[in-house]
Amino acid sequence: MEEPRGTPVPVLPARDLPEPEEIRRWATEQGILILAHSYQDGFLQESAHFVGDSLELARQAAEARAEAICFCGVHFMAETAKILCPEATVFVPDLEAGCSLADSCRAEDLERYQGHLSRKLGRRPVTVAYINCSAAVKALSDVICTSGNARKVIESIPEEETILFVPDQHLGGWLQEVTGRDMVLWNGSCMVHELFSVDTLKALQAEHPGAITLAHPECPKAVREAADHVLGTAGMLRMVRKARGLTFIVATEANMLYRFRKEAPGNTYVAAPGASCACNLCPHMQRNTPEKLWEALQLRAPAIEVPEEIRVRARRALERMLAVR
Ligand code: 13P
Ligand code: SF4
Repeated sequence: MEEPRGTPVPVLPARDLPEPEEIRRWATEQGILILAHSYQDGFLQESAHFVGDSLELARQAAEARAEAICFCGVHFMAETAKILCPEATVFVPDLEAGCSLADSCRAEDLERYQGHLSRKLGRRPVTVAYINCSAAVKALSDVICTSGNARKVIESIPEEETILFVPDQHLGGWLQEVTGRDMVLWNGSCMVHELFSVDTLKALQAEHPGAITLAHPECPKAVREAADHVLGTAGMLRMVRKARGLTFIVATEANMLYRFRKEAPGNTYVAAPGASCACNLCPHMQRNTPEKLWEALQLRAPAIEVPEEIRVRARRALERMLAVR
């Protein structure tokens, strides 16, 4: 199955960049909805009409009435918006903003493995795909999940079914632990969360006694086990909003701290560093810059296209996820 691609555009000469509020106001006048993931930098978050986790952004896209959506995030997120809101022109600041998790699971490999597993089991497994995957992989899946609803999605599948979970082995491992379900796991991982090490985390915990450690389920098992809470980004945000005067050590993409400091300023936040360097920023998310956002808004490009045959099947799997409450 061919992976869908968008349309590249030429780079325009640099121009004066308006303030985020001005960008947002201009986009509103033009009928463009700007969505941003919480892993985008502060400027992009401030420019957006809505900032959220993957689940909230998918819901926004499903309900959007805008004629155009500018998605500040990575490719699979914009594809998801296009699948759920096909009548809108969906475009991104940088078409090359990908994802190591999505790259780890090619549709043709998944299709071959599903065939192998079906022959071995004597029946089809139920394929659950983490939303961090391509539209073509979504089209081969029965249901999608995000970090925010993965547990509920797994629990919605009858006990007697065999679950094939793609592409994140760490999220899959955590789901096995919390649901008690035995699942076949794809071996993909997120290049950012994979790099958090339990040694550096424990050193940080020793420096901040009394701090509460939050880890994303994309982190390896040893890091999750050293954390007080394993939560997706929306779950983390809910927890810090309820707290006052506490210190949180956060093992997820470091731009998340911008939202925490803005929406729950009464606490102290410490970003967990990667194993070998302080880098805990997603290089794919970082490809989106204020300048590229402003240029993309003028051009309504580069646009995301999803072949109709893939879109219809991927939408079915996404809708099944959105129905799980
Ligand atoms: P959530 O926002 O759903 O927690 O996703 C994390 C992530 O890695 C997105 O790329
Ligand atoms: Fe992909 Fe990880 Fe970046 Fe999220 S943080 S987009 S999972 S590489």
